[in-house]
Amino acid sequence: MKTASLLASLTSSIALASAARLPVLPPGGLNVNGTPPVYHPLSDFDFQSFNLALNQEWIELDLFRFGRERFSDEDFHNAGLTDDDINLIGFMAQQEVAHGQLFTNMIGPDRAAKPCKYQYPFDNVRDFFEFSQRVTRFGEAGTLGFLEHLNSRDGAQMILQTITTESRQQMAFRQLEGLHPMPVDFQTGITQSMHWTLLAPYITECPAENPRIEWMNFPGLNITNAPNATEFFDPSNNTSTNDTSSSSGNSTSSGNNTTLDTTPAITHDRSEPLTSPGREILLSWELPGKTVGYNNSYTTNTTAGPGKFVAWISQLNTTYTPLTDVNGTTGKTVQPDLGTTFGLNNTSTVVNSTMFVLITDANVTVTPANMTMLDPHVVAGPAIYTVG
Ligand SMILES: *[C@@H]1O[C@H](CO)[C@@H](O)[C@H](O)[C@H]1NC(C)=O
Ligand SMILES: *[C@@H]1O[C@H](CO)[C@@H](O)[C@H](O)[C@H]1NC(C)=O
Ligand SMILES: *[C@@H]1O[C@H](CO)[C@@H](O)[C@H](O)[C@H]1NC(C)=O
Ligand SMILES: *[C@@H]1O[C@H](CO)[C@@H](O)[C@H](O)[C@H]1NC(C)=O
Ligand SMILES: *[C@@H]1O[C@H](CO)[C@@H](O)[C@H](O)[C@H]1NC(C)=O
Ligand SMILES: *[C@@H]1O[C@H](CO)[C@@H](O)[C@H](O)[C@H]1NC(C)=O
Ligand SMILES: *[C@@H]1O[C@H](CO)[C@@H](O)[C@H](O)[C@H]1NC(C)=O
Ligand SMILES: *[C@@H]1O[C@H](CO)[C@@H](O)[C@H](O)[C@H]1NC(C)=O
Ligand SMILES: *[C@@H]1O[C@H](CO)[C@@H](O)[C@H](O)[C@H]1NC(C)=O
Ligand SMILES: *[C@@H]1O[C@H](CO)[C@@H](O)[C@H](O)[C@H]1NC(C)=O
Ligand SMILES: *[C@@H]1O[C@H](CO)[C@@H](O)[C@H](O)[C@H]1NC(C)=O
Ligand SMILES: *[C@@H]1O[C@H](CO)[C@@H](O)[C@H](O)[C@H]1NC(C)=O
Repeated sequence: MKTASLLASLTSSIALASAARLPVLPPGGLNVNGTPPVYHPLSDFDFQSFNLALNQEWIELDLFRFGRERFSDEDFHNAGLTDDDINLIGFMAQQEVAHGQLFTNMIGPDRAAKPCKYQYPFDNVRDFFEFSQRVTRFGEAGTLGFLEHLNSRDGAQMILQTITTESRQQMAFRQLEGLHPMPVDFQTGITQSMHWTLLAPYITECPAENPRIEWMNFPGLNITNAPNATEFFDPSNNTSTNDTSSSSGNSTSSGNNTTLDTTPAITHDRSEPLTSPGREILLSWELPGKTVGYNNSYTTNTTAGPGKFVAWISQLNTTYTPLTDVNGTTGKTVQPDLGTTFGLNNTSTVVNSTMFVLITDANVTVTPANMTMLDPHVVAGPAIYTVG
């Protein structure tokens, strides 16, 4: 309700100011002439983007609350957290209440989706963080992917101010997990269908009146040898022990080696990433026609031909590696080395943090603002691959 009145007061104050004009105002710009903003979807594309985003808000609210309640304070302490850290998780759940309210107000309470029932693949604190950093990452990436394409620029403004907070949540989960908070120069965007493909498996049941989510569900993709920070964490002594970063997959025990540390922290330099270029990646994907999402009401599908490439979406880049050793619905590829962004002299390589990995039938050139051109070529995926 707070948000509703905020929107109303913003609208009226801007309408009142419509006659006023600054003496200095460069020509151009959109919606700077005092026209009252309209914080609602202006097209089906907008509605379905908002609808997807609201479903994302509801799972985050449920997930943060569930994690906070599921584990005892002692469980959190054993994972290296303080009471302040634990309270942060509760605070993030409250932020989701506000985000859900914002989208409900913009969509209108009659059409806005209600919270659903969910299933989560974790039963310890570290895996809760790992799952949460993935969920907040695909929520963030899905939103960054559609903002620019909305008809409602005013709605986009509200969503931008929402996703900025969610990006901070994502970073906080990385910190709770002991990963480098943001080892990239640019955060990645993906399409709504990629987002919905990643989200759908975790929603089990929704109220019948919830509006259908009208985006594609692509066939699922698994990276069968994907590492995650939890595997590098040894709770018995609160130290990360394993280094599988070499391309051979060789493990070396490292005791107190901070370059490998994944204990909770504002940051670890972690100059040894979880994975490195040249690493062989084992892939396994599903055929279309599988029932996914809530109430058994969605089916995976694709318009692509046979898989030939593996797409790696990261930062401002989408690159491809060949899909090799294809046998039915399994295959291999190799983690690419794209150097640093713009070839600059820094330690932030393009392939770092979260990669969105897909099987495609073509290596079409796409950049962040025309990512939807990739959708027709998706055979399966995305899968999330955490480089570091
Ligand atoms: C991360 O690795 C741990 C340990 O192997 C596993 O239990 C967990 O399911 C993994 N998390 C994800 C999201 O894959
Ligand atoms: C470290 O690697 C060894 C050998 O691969 C494995 O047995 C052990 O469970 C790993 N430890 C952790 C904490 O992941
Ligand atoms: C692991 O490292 C050892 C010693 O460097 C090497 O002999 C062995 O071949 C490596 N194993 C794999 C699977 O690459
Ligand atoms: C932590 O435990 C691992 C194996 O469980 C061991 O290799 C390592 O030395 C220990 N580290 C410390 C600091 O005790
Ligand atoms: C490992 O680091 C911890 C905390 O920094 C320190 O107390 C401990 O002595 C170190 N252990 C070794 C073996 O260096
Ligand atoms: C930490 O581990 C990395 C990778 O195995 C190694 O290059 C580095 O020398 C180690 N540092 C220390 C202090 O042991
Ligand atoms: C990822 O970025 C971190 C921080 O800049 C860096 O230490 C690490 O080596 C990078 N990883 C890769 C695979 O480039
Ligand atoms: C992918 O992994 C999930 C969860 O582990 C599993 O249920 C599913 O069968 C796997 N699918 C493929 C194609 O490997
Ligand atoms: C996939 O979409 C095509 C074209 O819309 C349709 O003909 C086909 O039946 C769909 N397949 C599945 C499994 O839903
Ligand atoms: C392909 O997969 C099947 C079933 O998993 C297996 O029996 C067969 O050996 C594989 N073929 C090759 C060439 O690896
Ligand atoms: C994208 O990747 C290419 C290498 O494939 C690299 O040359 C270029 O600098 C990258 N662009 C950005 C913006 O990171
Ligand atoms: C690149 O960065 C390193 C480390 O900051 C610095 O030592 C080196 O001089 C830089 N090289 C160039 C060409 O700027």
